[in-house]
Amino acid sequence: PETITVQELANRMAARGGEVVKTLFRMGVMATLTQTIDADTAELVVTEMGHRPKRVAESDVELGLEGAPDTEAELQPRPPVVTIMGHVDHGKTSLLDALRQTDVAAHEAGGITQHIGAYQIELPSGGKVTFIDTPGHEAFTAMRARGASVTDMVVLVVAADDGVMPQTVEAIRHARAANVPLIVAINKIDKPGVRPDRVRQELLQHEVVVESLGGETQEVEVSATQRINLDKLLEAILLQAEILDLRANPNRPAEGTVIESKLDRGRGPVATVLVQRGTLRQGDIVVAGTEWGRVRAMLDDRGRQIKEAPPSLPVEILGLSGVPAAGEHCIVVPDEARAREISEYRQRRAREKAALAAGAGRGTLNEMLA
Ligand code: GTP
Ligand code: MG
Repeated sequence: PETITVQELANRMAARGGEVVKTLFRMGVMATLTQTIDADTAELVVTEMGHRPKRVAESDVELGLEGAPDTEAELQPRPPVVTIMGHVDHGKTSLLDALRQTDVAAHEAGGITQHIGAYQIELPSGGKVTFIDTPGHEAFTAMRARGASVTDMVVLVVAADDGVMPQTVEAIRHARAANVPLIVAINKIDKPGVRPDRVRQELLQHEVVVESLGGETQEVEVSATQRINLDKLLEAILLQAEILDLRANPNRPAEGTVIESKLDRGRGPVATVLVQRGTLRQGDIVVAGTEWGRVRAMLDDRGRQIKEAPPSLPVEILGLSGVPAAGEHCIVVPDEARAREISEYRQRRAREKAALAAGAGRGTLNEMLA
């Protein structure tokens, strides 16, 4: 059966061990910090203490650090997070670049200053949209494998002169697996002789039925390079966002997902984090995977220093102890001691897993030799 020590349970909730012991006592369970309790009891304590229990990892109880669920009244609208996918050379990057130029602030600031894997644009209407650039298919798969769900919808770019190709189909599968809606952008319609209708037909074969064929998937004919119908695409995104009723509580300690990370020669470990709940602030102590640190500085996608990052905003954070992997969960904790505890716990877990894997490897080798 799945068990966990009281201390570890406390660590994972970022709560004091004594509090957990007390709560257990009130529930009629006598246990010290080093004693183990079963998963069901653990789940009860976690709920009792106002946290949301979450069992993830393969064979053991991994309790989320998310804290209490938000109430309806605490939730506020947040911008949609959109991932652009599609076959090689169908115009994903061109489309992202073109969309970015629709940002009102970009014009004021005099264009694009810096590239990070995600950015947010503000539309003349005041609406905001966050685009994620990085996830090539591999990154997307890796993030999904970590249980990270960052995108609210996928814009599927299909070049009208090339039609549905293998990676188009793969993108459709990714969107389905992630259970997020698609918007089809039929690109390169400026090219002479292209047949966008052929794309619609080809999509049918993969059970993507666009609206003009009586389906529910929005489609927009665009040209990234000629800047045709970008406004229509943005409208489609905002409409889809409205249908999804995307909301988050900005007034709580932040939680998010690492989108990409690197070791910068001058600045040390840098992680791009998409804030998904709460507001991330400069000075916050965060844990991302096994890494942790105090947020020394925070930069937006234009390289500007910011002090606060609300839900759906991607930000670069400086101050982590190391480079967390893309897809790692990033969460604000009350103090450094707690951060260290969580980090150490996760390192221990990683070592245990590695040892187990190594053990399994030896087993197979022995079998092979026998
Ligand atoms: P990968 O990142 O390599 O998968 O490609 P991508 O999907 O990002 O395509 P990219 O934006 O690099 O565009 C590929 C080529 O198509 C470039 O030469 C673009 O100039 C061209 N292209 C993109 N959009 C359009 C368009 O709307 N019309 C025309 N005529 N060409 C386009
Ligand atoms: Mg590209």
